[in-house]
Amino acid sequence: MSQHQQQPHAQHAHPQQPTVLVLDFGAQYAQLIARRVREARVYSEIVPATITADAIRARKPAALILTGGPASVFDAGSPHADPAILQLGIPMLGFCYGIQEIAHICGGRIETATVGEYGPTTLIAGTHSPLFADVPETSQVWMSHRDSVVTAPDGFTVTATTANCAVAAMEDPARRIYATQFHPEVAHTEYGQTIIENFLYRVAGIEPSWTTENIAEQIVGDIRAQVGDAHVLCALSGGVDSSVVAALLHRAIGDQLTCVFVDHGLLRAGEAESVDAVFRDQFHIDLVHVDARERYLSLLAGVTEPEQKRRIIGREFWKVFFEEAGALQQRLGDGTAPIRYLAQGTLYPDLIESGTDTAAKIKSHHNLIPFPPGVHFDLIEPLKALFKDEVRALGAELGLPDHIVWRQPFPGPGLAVRIIGEVTEEKLAILRAADAIVRAEIDAWDSERSVWQYFAVLPDIRSVGVMGDERTYARPVIVRAVSSADAMTADWARLPADLLARMSNRIINEVAGVNRVAYDITSKPPGTIEWE
Ligand code: XMP
Repeated sequence: MSQHQQQPHAQHAHPQQPTVLVLDFGAQYAQLIARRVREARVYSEIVPATITADAIRARKPAALILTGGPASVFDAGSPHADPAILQLGIPMLGFCYGIQEIAHICGGRIETATVGEYGPTTLIAGTHSPLFADVPETSQVWMSHRDSVVTAPDGFTVTATTANCAVAAMEDPARRIYATQFHPEVAHTEYGQTIIENFLYRVAGIEPSWTTENIAEQIVGDIRAQVGDAHVLCALSGGVDSSVVAALLHRAIGDQLTCVFVDHGLLRAGEAESVDAVFRDQFHIDLVHVDARERYLSLLAGVTEPEQKRRIIGREFWKVFFEEAGALQQRLGDGTAPIRYLAQGTLYPDLIESGTDTAAKIKSHHNLIPFPPGVHFDLIEPLKALFKDEVRALGAELGLPDHIVWRQPFPGPGLAVRIIGEVTEEKLAILRAADAIVRAEIDAWDSERSVWQYFAVLPDIRSVGVMGDERTYARPVIVRAVSSADAMTADWARLPADLLARMSNRIINEVAGVNRVAYDITSKPPGTIEWE
């Protein structure tokens, strides 16, 4: 590995923005809290709960939010905030474990109940707290706790209760410290977003300025400052992340950007053409379109083992890419500085390690570019502070078409992992045609984009059928459509019968070589979304 691959990522992505630091006590909701804050148009970052007060002071955050967490403040080894953070004078909001931690530090009384409080509960909120401005006196909130604060610390006032929780919210307005036992970040808390915005705007006095337009402007400024007059290379796949990276870089540095698109022949119908149409014709980006279709087909000939397919495709991609990088260097000529940067579409969730393990905050998977010996690039990662929904919004802002901004996830090895057995040109043609029908029919039906991913799979079998009085012995196509939030788990989509019927009829009528259509009704687990 080269040195460049091991460089840690700088956090402090946008120091000029008022920043909310989310102190993560091991909450499953830390990312959700950070996103809620950003939905309120305020920049936020997640940091380990054990961050020191000095480190916080150095970051100059506009506010702090203490998350919930699975531990009890009484447990040995449970995470604790540096008590000195309460002396920093920075507005603070704690949720669940966060309220207990504040009470623990400030001398309140916490008890472990024999019966916990889980699920929806009615909150009775005081009308004078700024936290509950525009929140009715009674509303639904989401609770999930066993410990609770029974006596608020000195200086704190109780501002909300529930039937089972004497201190559902408390505050020390003089020190601008606020806390709730319930979870405002989850959708089940009716006025959760209002409560979070009240804290940000009314208590902390933050002006909402984290808008898509500002994000674009800032990233463009950052790129210009980082890159200067150097040349940048971007591996463009046609997916949303690399497309947004390309569009941002083009806006920032124009002709100093070259995109390399490797067509391995394993793309879906229309995709290679769309990359040319959007990036070369619409954006006028210097685009190197490498036709590596033959090369991949011959490498994949006779290969049936899924992992071997993946290995060959991955390895070859970088081989082709670095060959092109070398050729480009030649093309740029002697007078030009060497290409210094390689742009990557790493997103914020790739960098966060949730929980309280401070030892290794940064995952390494995004650093796995296999640089050939002697080849060095500095990485440039313009999306590293963004969540996926922000990347999509940015794509739209930059003028990328909907079919790219809303493209469903598509695996790097492409159709090769949707063809069971050997990949051949004939099978690719069948799968591409069937897949185009599946996508067109579901796109037309699913205007709400409720289905996460949908595609066709071609198994390596044939079956007997009858078409127009003739016996057929042809291939089946499997339709896969799943609902999911993050691809970690998934369920098969309950598509209407007439939609399934339409897809089946069209595939069999329009795609030569197919005489049967099956629908995959397996969830993940035990299945995976892809078939290989
Ligand atoms: P599985 O099949 O493991 O897939 O349930 C989960 C999600 O990941 C996508 N996927 C990939 N994405 N390179 C990628 O960029 C890959 O090699 C790859 N394999 C699977 C898959 O489409 C689904 O969204």
